[in-house]
Amino acid sequence: DMNQSNKSKEDMSDMVHDSTVPLKSSKGKNEITFPKILKPDSVDGHHVSYTITAQQRKTAFYPGHKSDTFGYNGNLLGPVVKLKKGQNVKIKLVNHLNEDTTFHWHGLEVPGDVDGGPDQVLKPGEEKNISFKVNQPAATLWFHPHPSPHTGEQVYKGLAGLIYIEDNNKNAEKLPHEYGVNDLPLILQDKSFDSNKQLDYEKAKNDDGTTGNTGLVNGKVDPKLTVNKGLVRLRILNASNARVYHLKFDNGMKFDHIASDGGYLNKPKKVSEIQMAPSERNEILVDFSKVKGDHVNLVNEDGKVILPIHFIDSHQSFQASDEKISTLNLNNVKVSPKEKEMKATKKVVLAGMGQNVTINGKKFDKNRIDLKQKVNKTEIWEIENKKGAMGGMVHPFHLHGTQFKVISVDGKNPPEEMQGYKDTISLNPGQKVKIAVRFNHKGIYMFHCHNLEHEDNGMMGHIKVS
Ligand code: C2O
Ligand code: CU
Repeated sequence: DMNQSNKSKEDMSDMVHDSTVPLKSSKGKNEITFPKILKPDSVDGHHVSYTITAQQRKTAFYPGHKSDTFGYNGNLLGPVVKLKKGQNVKIKLVNHLNEDTTFHWHGLEVPGDVDGGPDQVLKPGEEKNISFKVNQPAATLWFHPHPSPHTGEQVYKGLAGLIYIEDNNKNAEKLPHEYGVNDLPLILQDKSFDSNKQLDYEKAKNDDGTTGNTGLVNGKVDPKLTVNKGLVRLRILNASNARVYHLKFDNGMKFDHIASDGGYLNKPKKVSEIQMAPSERNEILVDFSKVKGDHVNLVNEDGKVILPIHFIDSHQSFQASDEKISTLNLNNVKVSPKEKEMKATKKVVLAGMGQNVTINGKKFDKNRIDLKQKVNKTEIWEIENKKGAMGGMVHPFHLHGTQFKVISVDGKNPPEEMQGYKDTISLNPGQKVKIAVRFNHKGIYMFHCHNLEHEDNGMMGHIKVS
């Protein structure tokens, strides 16, 4: 067709470059388990201490086939670190890997010197104690390694764990909160396995973002979940290197979106689909008692099954009427009129694909400070995903050390699901967003694309907060 070939020659700039490997549907063979809650080494009033060890182990993703994997305090992924607002936390970090690593607390508002960016390396065999005070509202956060340029590889091999922050939010007490019963973490990842069912990062690696054909939930391939047929809270983390999910249920049912990266939304929002870019968290409440039949599938936009969910009838199931849930006031995140008026004083331009990715035209330099900001002072950042002549790619922009508010998306008010605190915002090619950024601690922090291969290819910078 003449018209089409002419168009493709003249104008490729509308193309969204996407080398994502298609995902296979889960065969529902393996019941998922939930990470253990990490036991403190000691607790004394508001003081708590933990030990977290990064280690190399083996995991049989398929029966009879052990593959080399990394894990925190285990063979794959990590435990849930439960912290309370106001707590003084000590963590002993231990590197039992045969390579350098760092321990980064994604979404946690901590001083720069304990944030675990690429300059805070622990060598093989090294240990280090860090401490910080928790001073942010309830949220589902996570931790993962950040060594440059090996973040993608170490996360892919299994290093990722959850952090739960709890506070005294009275209204949130009405939400399901029995861990492993009606309050369930779902860690989504995708990987590829070779003919011997081994993980091989070098083979799977793609400079545009490594995606795999096999979906995993909480580290299980062909996952399934069995739950009480009642109200269930799902805390979903996209811990994939690069895959973006558009999650929904295959019966089209609606559910309540209650929290995003940095904590609760002001009110639950009825939705039938959520988008999740790498590193984003979303918490949803699903009333399975309304489903006809004995199961429903959590699916991706293309209908591929991420997680089949089967029901058992149980008297323990948490019942709360829909009305009550949807009117809960969970939070009070507001963009002030002043913040709305403020001009952007920082600009961040994300551009490129593959190895040619840049931020503000530059690649990461461990010796360069790219931006500076004063502590406790709000600035407006404008983030742009700049299209090239060949179109562009989705870039999930992530900022360390703080939770920001989204002021606008392409000049318009952000959709409700972006009106809570966030630490990552995904931009399509050509998109521009404004965010209000305030740091409560000093130090040097990272900002980067959370497509981990883009990050490793230098799509990252430093901000110095003083
Ligand atoms: Cu999830 Cu710079 O990290
Ligand atoms: Cu990117």
